[in-house]
Amino acid sequence: MEVRLAREGGFCFGVRRAVGMVEELLAKGSEPVCLGPLIHNPQMIDRLKRQGLTVAKTPEDVKEGPVVIRSHGVRPEVLEAFANRGIEVVDATCPFVRRVQRRARDLTAGGYSVVIVGESEHPEVQALLGYAPRAVVAGTPSDLRGRRLGRKVGLIAQTTQTRQAFSDVLRYLAGRSFSELRSFDTVCRATATRLREAARVARWAELMVVLGGRRSANTRRMAALCGRSCPRTLHLESVDELDRGMLAGVERVGVAAGASTPDFVVEGFLRALS
Ligand code: F3S
Repeated sequence: MEVRLAREGGFCFGVRRAVGMVEELLAKGSEPVCLGPLIHNPQMIDRLKRQGLTVAKTPEDVKEGPVVIRSHGVRPEVLEAFANRGIEVVDATCPFVRRVQRRARDLTAGGYSVVIVGESEHPEVQALLGYAPRAVVAGTPSDLRGRRLGRKVGLIAQTTQTRQAFSDVLRYLAGRSFSELRSFDTVCRATATRLREAARVARWAELMVVLGGRRSANTRRMAALCGRSCPRTLHLESVDELDRGMLAGVERVGVAAGASTPDFVVEGFLRALS
């Protein structure tokens, strides 16, 4: 059996940075609280919890710091509330996400109707809405049909969206008449390269395995994309879900990992395959 691993995969820069910040706090003997799961990967979260990390569901659940803000970021009022309560904040918001937040804030201040290409429930988008409270969130052009927008429109994207989704919405907006349409392709390069690489391996594979948390939106999107070229695509969280029967008669196995999948999950899987 031949196994090919997608060249780009696993932790992206922002996730590696956030996990590193937490590990540094834990190594210093601190007892950090993360606001929401640090990343959408249960194996990594369990590992960090065993070392002393706790996870709070809401800002009110945080009784003392340091509180870690995950790479998706939070609304500005959440940061303000922690500051007012004297709670130390370790801000692990990805710098690329912060750039989108600034863009959302500036467009709003400039009087633009902000359109965000993304999923309205995603934590990154929820945080962005704190910077552009009247923004419209659209996953596809159809989400914008019948929506009233101002004369000036500013388009941005959740960093983990596909370039295709961004350009579909941009093309739709370009066909409507506004006095001004400004667009900022804020899709993260890491997302685009991971998807491209995974799709390349999927075109070659007979069986494609995409590793990552079930709640990880970028991993789900990667699995859906791979499924278009390789009908036998599986989204697995770890090697524990691998059943020998899944490999029966397969000679070419492709493996890819989402941006929140730790190296130890990928390594464990490849070891089991070999
Ligand atoms: Fe940041 Fe891009 Fe990852 S925005 S969190 S490096 S996917």
